Amino acid sequence: MKVTISQVSNYIDQEVTIGAWLANKRSSGKIAFLQLRDGTGFMQGVVVKAEVGEDVFKVAKSTTQESSLYVTGIVKKDERSPFGYELSVTGLEVIHEAVDYPITPKEHGTEFLMDHRHLWIRSRKQHAVLKIRNEIIRATYEFFNKNDFTKIDPPILTGSAPEGTSELFHTKYFEEDAYLSQSGQLYMEAAAMAFGKVFSFGPTFRAEKSKTRRHLIEFWMIEPEMAFYQFEDSLKVQEQYVEHIAQAVLANCKLELKTLDRDVSKLENIKAPFPRITYDDAITFLKEQGFDDIEWGDDFGSPHETAIANSYDKPVFITHYPTSLKPFYMQPDPEREEVVLCADLIAPEGYGEIIGGSERIHDVDLLDQRVEEHGLEPEAYKWYLELRKYGSVPHSGFGLGLERTVAWLSGTEHVRESIPFPRLLNRLYP
Ligand code: 4AD
Ligand code: MG
Repeated sequence: MKVTISQVSNYIDQEVTIGAWLANKRSSGKIAFLQLRDGTGFMQGVVVKAEVGEDVFKVAKSTTQESSLYVTGIVKKDERSPFGYELSVTGLEVIHEAVDYPITPKEHGTEFLMDHRHLWIRSRKQHAVLKIRNEIIRATYEFFNKNDFTKIDPPILTGSAPEGTSELFHTKYFEEDAYLSQSGQLYMEAAAMAFGKVFSFGPTFRAEKSKTRRHLIEFWMIEPEMAFYQFEDSLKVQEQYVEHIAQAVLANCKLELKTLDRDVSKLENIKAPFPRITYDDAITFLKEQGFDDIEWGDDFGSPHETAIANSYDKPVFITHYPTSLKPFYMQPDPEREEVVLCADLIAPEGYGEIIGGSERIHDVDLLDQRVEEHGLEPEAYKWYLELRKYGSVPHSGFGLGLERTVAWLSGTEHVRESIPFPRLLNRLYP
């Protein structure tokens, strides 16, 4: 019976065959321990010379790391391994012998591993991180489908820029100029006026010259947008959504979290509601903490965000930023024109901003004025302004950065490991 490692629990004490790769191996004169992986999981195969005979044992001893195999054996319960099962091997067939696999069990430097990313994703820890990514994506669809959102796909090639023009990737679109999308938001606002509650999930691009553990050039964003939702309504959706994905990872990625030595007690707590602090209070707090240079009107850097996040054991919303720090489309606070109805959600443990969102301006004249103030090309935003001419309503939305969320939930230091093939400053390969 041909099965996958993920299925072996259904075949205890039965003989099965698994198509696998040899991740690692230990052997003596009488017994060999094969660390097998098949994509669905990792499992140990035990080859006992006295049981399998000279020929099969010789194959076990000589097979090289990352060779592909058909391994036949009896599934045994094994209380000692975190996986819980092992294979008592009865037969081995080599499909392809790998020669000099570059990523050996010894330590390698980051640049070397990044150059071999196409192979590195096979390793146990990288596999675990990307499985957690997959669970977050699955739980995202589950959450928004359950809550009556419609998935809408905004374009990747665009003529207008939601988040300012300095970080745009420029390309030619035949005779015209085009940009790679830095956010689908403007299109999602159009979609919200057609479908009520919508969300997108797609790649976004920022030509940011930042070389930090939180920045990618190409990253994936989930962008919900909701008609008739005001600022507060949107915060509720955000905290419920983040609770949902954190609890889904806890429930469905136990083995992966163990592989990564993630402190799960830090995730059990991730339940709505989340604490909130205004930008004003954050400034006061930072001054108290000894950040003497920061003044009202300054943006927060990662040391500031981390200092704020460290005083909570849940993600924290920083709300009501100065208008001057934020994009043109944000709704001013009706009681204080100098701040906007926006919030950034800061993850605990120093992982930084995982969500940016706001209520959107729905008054056509104010929006028109903002387009002008920000020096944006009015022609490119004509369609966006039209959304305010035909049945304009208050509406709100947000964008969650997938890789930062993966890094946080999996406990991975750097976002480069939370996407299969990271595009970084100076890295377009592999
Ligand atoms: O805060 P941002 O720039 O917000 C927007 O783009 C809005 N238009 C979203 C919306 O309201 N629909 O980006 C949203 C999130 C950030 O909070 C962060 O998690 C992530 O996207 N992000 C990045 N992740 C990795 N690398 C980068 N260079 C990122 N820039 C933003
Ligand atoms: Mg932001």
